[in-house]
Amino acid sequence: MTTTPDLFSPLTLPNGATLPNRIAKAAMEENLCDAGQMPGARLVNLYQAWADGGTGLIITGNVMVAPNALTGPGGIVLQAGTFDTSGVEDRFKKWAKAAKSGGGHLVMQISHPGRQVFAAQGQQPVSASATKVTLPGFESLFETAHALSGDEVKEIIARFAETARLAETAGFDGVQIHGAHGYLVSQFLSPLTNLRDDEWGGPLKNRARFLLEIVRAVRAVVAPGFSVMVKLNSADFQRGGFELKDAKQVVKWLNKEDVDMVEISGGSYESPAMQGRTIDGDASSTLKREMYFIEFAKDIAGVATMPLMVTGGVTKLSTANMAMETGSVDVIGIARALAYQPDLPKQWQAQQNAEINWPAVTWKNQTFSALAVMSMTKAQLHRMAAGKRPKAKISPALALIKDRLRQKKQTKQYRNWLAGQA
Ligand SMILES: Cc1cc2nc3c(=O)[nH]c(=O)nc-3n(C[C@H](O)[C@H](O)[C@H](O)COP(=O)(O)O)c2cc1C
Repeated sequence: MTTTPDLFSPLTLPNGATLPNRIAKAAMEENLCDAGQMPGARLVNLYQAWADGGTGLIITGNVMVAPNALTGPGGIVLQAGTFDTSGVEDRFKKWAKAAKSGGGHLVMQISHPGRQVFAAQGQQPVSASATKVTLPGFESLFETAHALSGDEVKEIIARFAETARLAETAGFDGVQIHGAHGYLVSQFLSPLTNLRDDEWGGPLKNRARFLLEIVRAVRAVVAPGFSVMVKLNSADFQRGGFELKDAKQVVKWLNKEDVDMVEISGGSYESPAMQGRTIDGDASSTLKREMYFIEFAKDIAGVATMPLMVTGGVTKLSTANMAMETGSVDVIGIARALAYQPDLPKQWQAQQNAEINWPAVTWKNQTFSALAVMSMTKAQLHRMAAGKRPKAKISPALALIKDRLRQKKQTKQYRNWLAGQA
């Protein structure tokens, strides 16, 4: 009889690296850069809290591969030349050291947002094709993207590889290529945003070429023991978009590359399924309600040869255990609950604090609700970065206003920094 692994058992990845347990801190963009879009003491404090909390796999918030394409103005940029400035490599090393101090495996999420860039940041976005993010009522937040030329596509692939190489130099254990949530890789994968008719568009094989070429380019410049992971949408949750059958086919192609883990998520800015907002809410399955992508993960597990991580909706120990018991999932990804309780793994191992709750946001406007949830979570990250504990009671409206004000200030700093770049 085979038994399913315990949440607190180690996992050895295909490259031989070992995670001490099956709980992962999923990527959360922190917006905590110091001047010059680089890490500093605040990120060290924050990641120390997660390291102390016993998380087996720590995935950073997305680190940007290009200076003119940030998911938010407070993001970290790591590119060719970043370490040429005295002291900057050390900043990344200190960040890595703190995050690894609890024995967890540390992976830097590397990302390019493509068209999902705020117009206020002053940069024309790029994408597979000339499309624009459409959020009803918020049209002015985004601009129509410039469709990348073939040479520009190759230049971005090289950027992912260079960022991965620098992450390894700084002491990170691996990278995760962000291929989900409507960012650039996901824009290439989706037929809604990829309208190209060259080798990068058309049939799925061509739409997946960008991701596969990034994986190969990254693998070519890092050591075999360095982890290369991919975050992938199980579906876009938009009519005519990337679907489960596409995700399964992409995973089959990834099986042939040296990929150490695939994380399953879903959605985009236009359809925030990663927050559980467009899921059908089938009340017949508690597991599905509490773990948004579990049914998709089960299906994908049928074809995947690498370990699978599934993220979205986990707030209870019982849910995490139930997901492990399906035998389809190797690692449970948790984002928001670890912002409210950074030592959740240690508490769960001691059978304490079996459920994490945060104030529900039930506003009618989906976009405002989604933004408020993000702002409340970020407020907790910013508390930890300042050496404080997260706060259980937090006002969605206040968090949203504070976040907007912070973003405005960071946008000004970012635009000044960018203007000074060559
Ligand atoms: C504040 C915040 C920032 C996020 N930033 C990222 C990110 O940088 N990269 C990413 O892949 N997902 C990001 N996400 C999505 C999470 O990784 C995760 O997929 C989602 O929150 C669902 O997991 P949860 O229910 O455990 O929170 C972010 C989520 C939040 C709340």
